[in-house]
Amino acid sequence: MKLWAGRFSKEADKKTNDFNSSIATDSRMYYEDITGSIAHATMLGEQGIISKEDCEIITTELAKIRDEITDGTIKIDPDAEDIHTFIEQTLTARVGDPGKRLHTARSRNDQVATDVKLYLKKECVSLRAQLVELLGVLEKKKEEYKMMVMPGYTHLQRAQPVTLGYHFGAYIEMFKRDITRLDDAVKRMDVSPLGSGALAGTTYPIDRALSAKLLGFEGGYTLNTLDGVADRDFCAEIACAMSLVMVHLSRFSEEIVLWSSWEFKFIELDDAFSTGSSIMPQKKNPDLAELIRGKSGRVFGDLNALLTMMKGLPLAYNKDMQEDKDLTFEAIDTVRMCLTAFIPMIDTMTALPENMRKAAAGGFINATDCADFLVSRGLPFRDAYKATGETVAFCIKNGYTLETLPLEEYKNICDLFDDGVYEAINLETCVRKRGLFDI
Ligand code: ARG
Repeated sequence: MKLWAGRFSKEADKKTNDFNSSIATDSRMYYEDITGSIAHATMLGEQGIISKEDCEIITTELAKIRDEITDGTIKIDPDAEDIHTFIEQTLTARVGDPGKRLHTARSRNDQVATDVKLYLKKECVSLRAQLVELLGVLEKKKEEYKMMVMPGYTHLQRAQPVTLGYHFGAYIEMFKRDITRLDDAVKRMDVSPLGSGALAGTTYPIDRALSAKLLGFEGGYTLNTLDGVADRDFCAEIACAMSLVMVHLSRFSEEIVLWSSWEFKFIELDDAFSTGSSIMPQKKNPDLAELIRGKSGRVFGDLNALLTMMKGLPLAYNKDMQEDKDLTFEAIDTVRMCLTAFIPMIDTMTALPENMRKAAAGGFINATDCADFLVSRGLPFRDAYKATGETVAFCIKNGYTLETLPLEEYKNICDLFDDGVYEAINLETCVRKRGLFDI
């Protein structure tokens, strides 16, 4: 039985029932739907819109239904149109007329917007906790890898020496931003749409501030009722925050893939977080990191689909918006799964400092410091840069590194070189002088 049965003379077509239904997705919000209904009924009772007795019957029974769904006594009907229908009908089947009064001064349009916001607020708490857990692991690793010199890259060409700890520090900054982004999104979302009705509010003397307060919306209630039911910015903002988490996880994963290859061998992943090949016995593959990199596309797709779904919709509610939940939920589910794999994978990895040190010693990674040495001897930087470039070219041609090039050869290129150059180009000196050991 549909909530809207009165106007219609035929049952809904069976084949399209599933297409129209959102129960497969929105049953995840049963808890929030009931919590929202309890707040709404309480407000109706306070305002004298329904009697105190009806209010008591509705709220008591709804709390029971909520417990029974949680403990599995009540099975949600997969053929119901949506979770709102299922709960209202379950309530009415149990208590009769008071159940039929619950929907006074409310529409599924403000109801669903309220449910989604409450649900996402809860999800964001656990996602935030996972990001904080990741930061904890990264801080620990940053400390552990503090003194390990490695090549820093631009264009994936060896550029200047850094440390692995400092490299981890860069990701710490990214994930810290992700947390603030999530906090911002939640703060803006934290405004109650309940009481917006279908689109134009209601003629009943409702108290929107009360239902907002009962539901814990810190920002009060939405001021314009059309906007209250038509807004899905919060879904897009959360999908965007999730997308940037995935960009960061994916870039980090890409580096894990590179670093664990034989070409780099800067790190070794724990066996428990690697996989083998069905044919090549020697293989140890960084599958988890690759999967995380691969799954980022899904989350960007969710954001793109949300924006595309919303961009042409006239005000206020349109059924297109039912898509919001599948997309936003997929984005948060994907990030949650990726973090669940990523955190222990990073926690258990081992760094191979000798290999990083060896890689840092090749590729003339200290050439900038060599030029800076000439600057310290009075040469303008642009001339120092050119003389160092010539020195590097000479080394490449004659099989030297900056460390092994004899002082006479240095002096042939520029007579401002003296034996202080060897200390200046020492990799530890390069890192220390930039303060990277201390950060
Ligand atoms: N299942 C719908 C959704 O997720 C609930 C709102 C339905 N409202 C309506 N007017 N059909 O958006």
